[in-house]
Amino acid sequence: MQEDLFKRLVSHAKEYGFIYPSSEIYEGLSGIYDYGPMGVELKNNIKEYWWKAMTQMNENIVGLDSAIFMHPKIWKASGHVDAFNDPLIDNKDSKKRSRADVLIEDEIQKMLGKANKEVEKAAKRFGDTFDEAMFRETNPRVLEYTQKAAVIEKRLAVALSNNDMADIKAIIDELEIADPDSGSRNWTEVRQFNLMFSTQMSNIASEDGKLYLRPETAQGIFVNFLNVQKTTRQKVPFGIAQIGKAFRNEIIARQFIFRMREFEQMEMQYFVRPGTQVEFYQEWKAKRMAWHARITPPEKLRFKDHDNLAHYADAAVDIQFEFPFGFRELEGIHSRKDFDLKAHTEHSGKKMQFFDPEINESYVPFVVETSVGLDRMFLSVMSNALVDETVPDAQGEDSTRTVLRIPAALAPVKCAILPIVKNKEELVGKAREVYDRLKLYFQCQYDDKDAIGRRYRRQDAIGTPYCVTIDFETIENDTVTIRERDSMTQIRVPVGEVAGIVSEKTDMRTLLV
Ligand code: GAP
Repeated sequence: MQEDLFKRLVSHAKEYGFIYPSSEIYEGLSGIYDYGPMGVELKNNIKEYWWKAMTQMNENIVGLDSAIFMHPKIWKASGHVDAFNDPLIDNKDSKKRSRADVLIEDEIQKMLGKANKEVEKAAKRFGDTFDEAMFRETNPRVLEYTQKAAVIEKRLAVALSNNDMADIKAIIDELEIADPDSGSRNWTEVRQFNLMFSTQMSNIASEDGKLYLRPETAQGIFVNFLNVQKTTRQKVPFGIAQIGKAFRNEIIARQFIFRMREFEQMEMQYFVRPGTQVEFYQEWKAKRMAWHARITPPEKLRFKDHDNLAHYADAAVDIQFEFPFGFRELEGIHSRKDFDLKAHTEHSGKKMQFFDPEINESYVPFVVETSVGLDRMFLSVMSNALVDETVPDAQGEDSTRTVLRIPAALAPVKCAILPIVKNKEELVGKAREVYDRLKLYFQCQYDDKDAIGRRYRRQDAIGTPYCVTIDFETIENDTVTIRERDSMTQIRVPVGEVAGIVSEKTDMRTLLV
């Protein structure tokens, strides 16, 4: 069912101009996607929602747009050259490359799946008297699966933080994990694979000219800390927000735009006085969850603490979203201590400090980071929104419609202007006049092709919250109907009121309070 939803979503995204595989006429490029005319509008609206929530709603958060290419020493200082790795394993028979930790995580999911099956079977058998919690605590088979899963999960986390590739291989052997495609267990050893893409600066031939495509936007913020603090005279605590492309040479890029090799991040570094990081970490956890919950049903969101901390963090949590393929990371919130500013001080020789007039002291600020993938946000918005439903047609018969229930402020097109027929000059002239007026306020689409019912369906499929229909009554009394996407109800209003009504309902303001 969920798998079906995912397939539907991928094909819907292509059919209606949201997302295309990149370089498609050349068979595509794995892990890379292009956003079409509807996709770019939706993406821009998600960016605007984040940007305004950060920089407009907080007087102590300012924006930045740093370059993708940065001095190569930055990546040495940040630890990415030495430690930004994933464990890789090759299958000698199928020649397929896999992430060793993902193979193990999939196996853990299988164990938990088996436990859930036992629970489902028992629930059917016992009916209303079934006590799930008690069953999970006492049933020997369920306990065996869940305990084994927990032991493996812990062992994997320890092996990853200790860089113990041999133990990761040992887990794969002990669990007899086979290549998902070929079934072969003929694996190579596990080795670390650095995820950064590199290229060469034209005028420097040696290693010194090696440039990296940034794997996170955060470092652009850290290296501009002094510039931004001085030019804006912000005092700690304050934040710097940035939206931009990041690149990772993922061993396997999969699940559509969930794991890509070129993607966008929306990151905010919050600089705080050392010792206050726990308080701000908690505050940003709550704020970021609230931001998500304004556009996503809360039951589809949850926190998941990191078992295996990144090299820069002393605390980290993911906000996970229930994608069609299960709960996965949507956003990371990390307490990065003074790791980055200290490292840049050491490598650049420039003191990355703040003089705090309140305590008359200079210090290297600690950092709480919030980092959300724009493409993953896009996927979460689309998967929440896509619905196939049965509705009455013009004759009152059952018909199905596909509708994208995107929050109105994020919808690619806010309002469609539809003359009821296209061969009446007077109607078309009036509809054009209405379109020309409304396009000054928000993104509109004019459509006069096909019967009105089909045009409504087309707008439903791209998530347009309002359709304005110009009919014969419009000519008589200057009124139009506004049809609302979700309820499909229509109201008749004077033409002069449409801009105000639609603006009120679709403005980004509706999401910011
Ligand atoms: N600066 C911290 C940082 O980059 P991360 O957890 O590696 O942390 C942050 O990445 C977010 O970026 C993730 O929560 C995810 O939404 C997004 N992201 C990471 N890798 C991605 C990929 N390959 N494709 C799409 N989004 C990705």
